[in-house]
Amino acid sequence: MAADLSFNRLPCNERAEIEITVEGQTVIALEGETVAAAVMYAGLRPTRTTPVSGSGRAPYCMMGVCFECLMNIDGKPNTQACMTEVHKGMVISVQQGAREVGGDSI
Ligand code: FES
Repeated sequence: MAADLSFNRLPCNERAEIEITVEGQTVIALEGETVAAAVMYAGLRPTRTTPVSGSGRAPYCMMGVCFECLMNIDGKPNTQACMTEVHKGMVISVQQGAREVGGDSI
């Protein structure tokens, strides 16, 4: 994935690089950053689609308030990407519509 030039990291950042998988592609994230920051830097949009219209959404507040950043993270749907720190080997995918609970959509 190419870096999205509208979301950049500060040049003074000296954190270790780790590999995560986003939509089946390897992405380099920085230790300590959130999933939302990593996927936005990688240029992934949208990060979820709405259950009703299917329209795309992306992180907005970056502080756990708006819930626009819900993603499937390590097999767990409806996870707030802006409140989840990356770790080596993490697997992330776009959340399509409502999450499945016991085989039913909610
Ligand atoms: S971006 Fe608003 S809750 Fe995550």
